[in-house]
Amino acid sequence: MKKFLALALSLVMALSLVACGGSSTEEPADEGETAESAETGETGGSGKIGIAMPTKSLERWNRDGSYLQEQFESAGYEVELTYSDNDVTQQVNDIENLISDGVDLLIVAAIDGESLTTVLDSADEAGIPVISYDRLIMNTKAIDYYVSFDNYTVGVLQGQYVIDTLGLDLNDTSKTYNIEFTAGDPADNNAPFFFNGAFDTLKPYIDAGILNIVSGQTAFEEVATATWDTATAMNRMQNILASYYSDGTQLDVALCSNDSTALGVTQAIESDYAGSNQPIITGQDGDEANLKNIVDGKQSMTVYKAVANEAVVTLALAQAILNGEQPGEELTSQFDCECAYDTSSYDNNTGIIPSYLLTPTVVTADNIQEELVDTGYYTMGSDGYPVAVG
Ligand code: BGC
Repeated sequence: MKKFLALALSLVMALSLVACGGSSTEEPADEGETAESAETGETGGSGKIGIAMPTKSLERWNRDGSYLQEQFESAGYEVELTYSDNDVTQQVNDIENLISDGVDLLIVAAIDGESLTTVLDSADEAGIPVISYDRLIMNTKAIDYYVSFDNYTVGVLQGQYVIDTLGLDLNDTSKTYNIEFTAGDPADNNAPFFFNGAFDTLKPYIDAGILNIVSGQTAFEEVATATWDTATAMNRMQNILASYYSDGTQLDVALCSNDSTALGVTQAIESDYAGSNQPIITGQDGDEANLKNIVDGKQSMTVYKAVANEAVVTLALAQAILNGEQPGEELTSQFDCECAYDTSSYDNNTGIIPSYLLTPTVVTADNIQEELVDTGYYTMGSDGYPVAVG
């Protein structure tokens, strides 16, 4: 079974490379020569990479960890990978240990973007470059680069999906709809980007009275979900349903920033919603439980971010940094997937952090096969539900 999984993983890695080929991912020309050296003539990867992931309890980070590990190991690096159980103190300890283990470069997906200043200052003093992975780490000059998806666009895609699905038209105010928002963790710098992308997209319809937020909870702080926790999102939606919808008021849309929150909101609607319509429910990530709900018609869409490609971009960036280069726009030309070099969007309070931003995709029941299975990121289980590989 293990062997099969390993085989499946390498197959998927190979397929994902078709989606987003970086120089480091090509087949080596000769035995013993790394892909990097085969293509560029430079020495292949050597050294140790420290990877700090937030938690195994949110599905996507398991995939990020495996893809990153696979990418760096196959390019010749040694990898130390930590998961910190969504515990900020543990993540600080884990990063301290990676530093004292002598890693040559750190890749960090922060639990709390504002709590790593001191530990990353030590990395800086030790001359260890740091890539802020997926979530921007705030208040430290130690961050060299940021690799993520276009986070604002994730929210825009969710908002646009609602507009398209309901056929909203600013010139037609005769039909109105009710909507509630559920956002992410305030400690995660991404969360306001997702929320603002969705809210800004829908605001003209809210202002026109076409979309009504019946609970009146419109500010990010009011709709946020600590640690992106499913049960917290479920409890909040149960309260909203009891307070504002128990009289038969129809809920048309539950705009959720990601899949872990969408899962809780879906559970609340299943158990506590008095209406008989199926509200539109948005998400993000393509978590297996949510894809199952999409197949079953309980969730409408998810915004998928190919984390396999995020790993490919991170490897290419890390290699360039370790080669003493100062990568910029030119790095993007080696990727087949869409990846923008951005020097204006992400300021971590010490200045702009140069960013490589990949492009997210909308996944619905209609394109799961094409976007997730045919691309090799998932297999289709015999029960008809997608299973993530990696
Ligand atoms: C990631 C999302 C994820 C969320 C919770 C965010 O920082 O960008 O993909 O859903 O964390 O894990």
